Amino acid sequence: MNWRSTAHHWGIIAKTFHWLVALGIFALAGIGLYMVDMPLGMAQLKVYLLHKALGVTVLALVLLRLLWRLFDRHPHYPADMPRWQVGAAHASHALLYLLLLAVPISGWVYNSASGFPLPWFGLLQLPAIAPVSKSLAHVALSVHEIAFWVLAVVVVLHVMAALDHHFRHRDTVLARMLPWRYRSRVSNTRGDTP
Ligand code: HEM
Ligand code: HEM
Repeated sequence: MNWRSTAHHWGIIAKTFHWLVALGIFALAGIGLYMVDMPLGMAQLKVYLLHKALGVTVLALVLLRLLWRLFDRHPHYPADMPRWQVGAAHASHALLYLLLLAVPISGWVYNSASGFPLPWFGLLQLPAIAPVSKSLAHVALSVHEIAFWVLAVVVVLHVMAALDHHFRHRDTVLARMLPWRYRSRVSNTRGDTP
């Protein structure tokens, strides 16, 4: 398997970023929704610290993924995939990236505007990215929550689209993003050429 993506396959680096970010988002969603209902105390504080440190880690991974994307290529879509579907795929990926930035950055702004510290797994102290302000904290928290729910909806549509490719159209769009090597058992009825 190649490090870089080719016309037909995602490379190891693109796949690793994709699945690390996906795992991170699923974990952060679970931790975030759970921690806000925990009773006040040390246990809640520790879970908040974990959520915040993991959140900035996912932000860093998204930024690195975007940087890598500048030097990497995007595999071709099946030759007979309708143009509107290709457009929808590009638009939904752009929206996913926008939300993958908006959710952690708004969380960080909320944290800074509330005057809370941001230790990264006890190893270093990250700086505030906004001044302390009650009104800004309020807006940033709303953005964090709304952007998260929009992200959740877009991810559901994204997964449905991937499964549709695999099981209905039986093309390689999902198979080539899977973390393991795949044998092209999936038929290429839709073609897979440039
Ligand atoms: C992509 C990464 C992230 C995801 C998916 C995420 C998701 C969530 C979710 C689902 C909640 C619960 C919202 C609610 O029901 O009220 C939440 C709350 C919270 N998040 Fe994040 N978060 C992310 C990154 C961050 C970052 C980077 C920070 C700060 C540096 C952060 C700080 C917070 C805080 C402080 C709360 C609690 C707000 C409250 O007490 O009401 N989050 N997050
Ligand atoms: C939180 C979860 C997820 C996020 C945030 C996410 C995000 C993304 C993004 C941003 C891309 C575009 C890659 C690029 O062009 O740079 C992508 C591609 C892709 N994702 Fe996900 N993904 C998630 C979960 C999943 C899951 C669970 C599946 C499988 C069921 C999946 C299947 C795919 C496939 C097949 C592609 C390649 C699509 C193509 O060739 O255009 N993703 N994902």
